[in-house]
Amino acid sequence: VDDGELIVVSNRQPYTHSYDHGDGGRSITVNRPAGGLTAGLDPVMQETDGTWIAWGDGEADADVTDDNGKVRMPPESEAYTLKRLWLTDEEVEGYYYGYSNRVLWPLCHGGTMKTDYVERYWQRYQQVNETFADAVVETAGADSLIWFQDYHFTLAPRWVRDSLPDSAFLTHFWHITWPGWDTFRACPQHEQLLEGLLGNDLLGFHVERYCRNFLDCVDEALDDAFIDPEGGRVNYEGHTTVVKAFPMGIDPDSIREHAEAVDDDFWREFQSSHGIDAETSVIVGVDRLDYTKGIVERLDALERLLETRPEYRGEVCYVQKANESRSLIPDYQDLQTEVQESIDRINDRFGTDDWQPVIYINEFIPQRELCGLYRYADVMLVSAVRDGMNLVSKEYVAAQVDDDGVLVLSDQAGAHEELGDRALTINPYDTDAFADTIERALTMDGEERAERMVALRERVESNDLYAWMESIFDTVDELRAKDADD
Ligand code: UDP
Ligand code: G6P
Repeated sequence: VDDGELIVVSNRQPYTHSYDHGDGGRSITVNRPAGGLTAGLDPVMQETDGTWIAWGDGEADADVTDDNGKVRMPPESEAYTLKRLWLTDEEVEGYYYGYSNRVLWPLCHGGTMKTDYVERYWQRYQQVNETFADAVVETAGADSLIWFQDYHFTLAPRWVRDSLPDSAFLTHFWHITWPGWDTFRACPQHEQLLEGLLGNDLLGFHVERYCRNFLDCVDEALDDAFIDPEGGRVNYEGHTTVVKAFPMGIDPDSIREHAEAVDDDFWREFQSSHGIDAETSVIVGVDRLDYTKGIVERLDALERLLETRPEYRGEVCYVQKANESRSLIPDYQDLQTEVQESIDRINDRFGTDDWQPVIYINEFIPQRELCGLYRYADVMLVSAVRDGMNLVSKEYVAAQVDDDGVLVLSDQAGAHEELGDRALTINPYDTDAFADTIERALTMDGEERAERMVALRERVESNDLYAWMESIFDTVDELRAKDADD
């Protein structure tokens, strides 16, 4: 990609500015939100320059952004332009909390019973997609490469496609799962969603299964679509969209460097500040507080372990690092309560004066500390009930510089396609088998741990974020070259 011609469009911005209007004047802090999308794309943008258009949640501020909402990012090295679009409270309620996160998020993760089809949500979702489409058209040149991210923008691609010359290329990466037709057909707007996405020239998913599900939905829903399932192509109303799997990776060097920057002293201090005995085995879980992550199911399995195998009491400690997410939505509030209740129950039931089975960390911890926790934890539990990829599992692997940790991984996470054969597989709903697997992880001998982790690390290091980016951009180049020949 030539410098300056890339336009990334996402809902979540990579950096927020927050303002403290204190006595001594105003101070500005820059923060990074949690989530795989922004964590992954920021390094990509730093390499390619261009413009990133995103919702500017927080205060609009002329001291930081120019009249067009633009600011150079990241603050320390200014490698690309972030263009913020400010939305009204009504738009945020209907488009973000409403249609995106109370319809599309549960629908795509197979949770049709959690969807809430309120007409206002759909209206505002359309309105905001139009606002973003207009901003793209205004920013784009004839040869721009426009890269939409995720489920917040299903409609914008079609509108942008209709307004730009054919030489502009539209690609979209869908970061979450795509469900089967039998689930997707429950959505009253399923046709419009598919038509919107088919405005793209290239549509990427993490794994093949999501591609197949998408093509199947198009086949069932749109009579006029011609599908070449082997070639992964759809022709609809004279326009072709290529559908392809690109499993997203992480930046392993940065994780490894953070993990190597900590030492045994860090870990001793971490243990003592959380009341963890030096000899205790530590199991870790790191998640946004989302019902797709299977946190309650995981706590059930830990409880089963302690209940059925008393010899582990006092010997293991589970550290749950969690980040509050989408808290205005009732299902997320319910989850927060459930997680807290499960933790309290386990701690009340088994805890003693000098041992707490579950430690809950729900405040921010710096990247160095997170990577230190990954490095020193004996076992990581990833128990998503459905997850597009799950980058946390890859981060844990990359931080295993001593090759002595064990990854326990749900077969419902996209990452299982790549890591499943060397991780220990669980089904998050099978509590007994899950508890058995935690025991197996805790008792695995050093040789097997190392053998598995070396293989996992190699895979995470070779299928990294840059390989992902390259493979998408190579496909874009191939398709553009082909179009030019036709
Ligand atoms: N994360 C974090 N703190 C937390 C939870 C998550 O910094 O308490 C980060 C984590 O390191 C990873 C991202 O958020 O980079 C989560 O990505 P993942 O793909 O696992 O899940 P998502 O939140 O995108 O569904
Ligand atoms: C998932 C989604 C992203 C989203 C992230 C955090 O990774 O695929 O689009 O940014 O979760 O969620 P949030 O609603 O806070 O942006």
